[in-house]
Amino acid sequence: MSVQHKVTVELGERTYEIIIGSGVLARAATHIAPLLPRPKLAIVADANLAESHLPILRAALNDVGIAHESYLVPSGEASKNFGQLSDLCDWLLAQKIERNDCIIALGGGVIGDLTGFAAAILRRGTRFIQIPTTLLAQVDSSIGGKTAINAPSGKNLIGAFHQPDLVLADIDVLKTLPPREVGAGYAEIVKYGALGDKAFFAWLEENGAKVLALDEAAMAEAVARSCRAKAAIVARDERETGERALLNLGHTFGHAFEALTGYDNTLLHGEAVAYGMVLAFNFSVARGHCAPEDAARLKDHIGASHLPQKMSAIGKGKFAADALVEAMSQDKKVLNGQMRFILANGLGDTFIADDVSQDELRAFLLAEGAGAA
Ligand code: GLY
Repeated sequence: MSVQHKVTVELGERTYEIIIGSGVLARAATHIAPLLPRPKLAIVADANLAESHLPILRAALNDVGIAHESYLVPSGEASKNFGQLSDLCDWLLAQKIERNDCIIALGGGVIGDLTGFAAAILRRGTRFIQIPTTLLAQVDSSIGGKTAINAPSGKNLIGAFHQPDLVLADIDVLKTLPPREVGAGYAEIVKYGALGDKAFFAWLEENGAKVLALDEAAMAEAVARSCRAKAAIVARDERETGERALLNLGHTFGHAFEALTGYDNTLLHGEAVAYGMVLAFNFSVARGHCAPEDAARLKDHIGASHLPQKMSAIGKGKFAADALVEAMSQDKKVLNGQMRFILANGLGDTFIADDVSQDELRAFLLAEGAGAA
């Protein structure tokens, strides 16, 4: 059997495992069957996977006699809405899914967030299993129990913490992703090194090209180390009262560029996070927290990974400093009117800063190439 990793998210009676490796989807029933009180479950899948990954999962369940029906959700962020949530809950009730039954989410972050939220509210909380099929979902959104739909006023504003009972990350499914999406997911892997594990960052400097080329052993190792890093943080701070906020490294800057590019294909979320991390480290140097060599290493690795490491690499003309500051002051991490940034003392050593003024931020963004108006 090819390499397989197991990571445990330690949360007392809600502890669960993440299984990572090649062929995990075809062997899914081995991991799922012991969790079921009766041989029945529901699958919620990305409609784009109806002919590729869904049949593999269904065959695995059929082989061991687990009865199941599946519900397809259209791909894309637009599916994270009340209408889709309501239809999904009606369907799950029509399938007579009980509180102790499991609902499987098969897809990327959209499917995981929507299905997880439906599971959180169905019968006041039903069990669910994440089978993430994008790199970003495997290393980030499927772990830790954040579930949500979007509101007209912002992304992920209506949701709940609801932990899955199991996460199955099959690295074979990543082989069908467009390279740009693999790169965007890779940015979240780099994030774990940059925010708390300098040795992992150095490993990525050595092995990142193999990961991006989907080398099986390198990819499984990178996903497993990322999952281990996230699991440890979630175990210590499940509800984000402190340390979990470090997972937002690069996000305050990144979200501003996503907002200004209109959440379109100009900038994928992971690409925005990649450039956001470069800015967070440059800002840390400008404020005297971080050695320039560490910021340069991050920037070089982001560039070597074909991710944006300077503002002019984001193809929508010049960004106005004032518009960027305005977007950042609307970020959902703003607390008591004060912006919050994750800044760095160095690679692998980050902290929460809530003493950044708008004037200081504007001056920094101008120095980074933003426009004066
Ligand atoms: N994606 C950040 C978190 O789960 O906290």
